[in-house]
Amino acid sequence: MQTPLSSQCLTVNLDPPYKISTEQLHVLPTSNISISFRFLRPGDQSEVKSLCCDWFPIEYPDLWYDDIVRDTKYYALAACETHTQRIIGVVVADILALGSCNREDQQILHKSFSLTTPVCYILILGVEKEYRRQGLAGILLYHLLNTLYERGTCQAVYLHVLYSNKQAIKFYQSKHFQYRVHLPHYYCIKGENLDGYCFALYLNGRHFELLFLFFN
Ligand SMILES: CC(C)(COP(=O)(O)OP(=O)(O)OC[C@H]1O[C@@H](n2cnc3c(N)ncnc32)[C@H](O)[C@@H]1OP(=O)(O)O)[C@@H](O)C(=O)NCCC(=O)NCCS
Repeated sequence: MQTPLSSQCLTVNLDPPYKISTEQLHVLPTSNISISFRFLRPGDQSEVKSLCCDWFPIEYPDLWYDDIVRDTKYYALAACETHTQRIIGVVVADILALGSCNREDQQILHKSFSLTTPVCYILILGVEKEYRRQGLAGILLYHLLNTLYERGTCQAVYLHVLYSNKQAIKFYQSKHFQYRVHLPHYYCIKGENLDGYCFALYLNGRHFELLFLFFN
């Protein structure tokens, strides 16, 4: 979960738009609902905002929503209920140079890595409450990772999570993300300063091994 103040200016151009097969449907195992995937587009702002208000305890400015649906530098993938086209899950990620990450996050890679090394930051990942625990966040993450693997340049994927967000921590741990950095007072929520954690998944050279682990 990104804070509205996180600084990310220098991005690495990976020639978006990213590829995804929109014909690929997925049926959720317990509810039997059919899901399709597409990238966010202009017009999605209010739907995504309403989901994020539900999922996250911090408010993002409207400009941020404009940005993630319009700017093709973001990998912004939505899972939609096929029948209604309602968005029920979203992942938004950005590929940036290590040197553009917050200073404390630069510790995710050893200092021998150049500051131009590309890494991927997950700004948000969420799934509507009634569709959780059916593997949907895993599939959204899988699509992101697959794109990164195909491009073959990113060394790591990382994210921030509120220290008390047990479900997200369990989720990322189940996908082999590692706890990397403790971020004291990283979030300011309703006037209270709360700690965050940074988790990272290392990609380089581990394509098949990771994809195998991911679904086991
Ligand atoms: C975290 C979140 C995205 C997980 O979505 P999801 O679709 O339910 O996740 P998945 O079904 O793919 O879960 C995969 C695995 O993660 C772990 N996991 C996910 N949610 C869990 C929970 N509430 N408790 C314990 N383990 C959990 C489990 O190991 C799960 O596998 P299992 O169901 O076979 O046991 C969802 O709970 C959410 O949207 N939370 C609010 C937003 C948020 O906090 N996002 C993360 C910060 S960016």
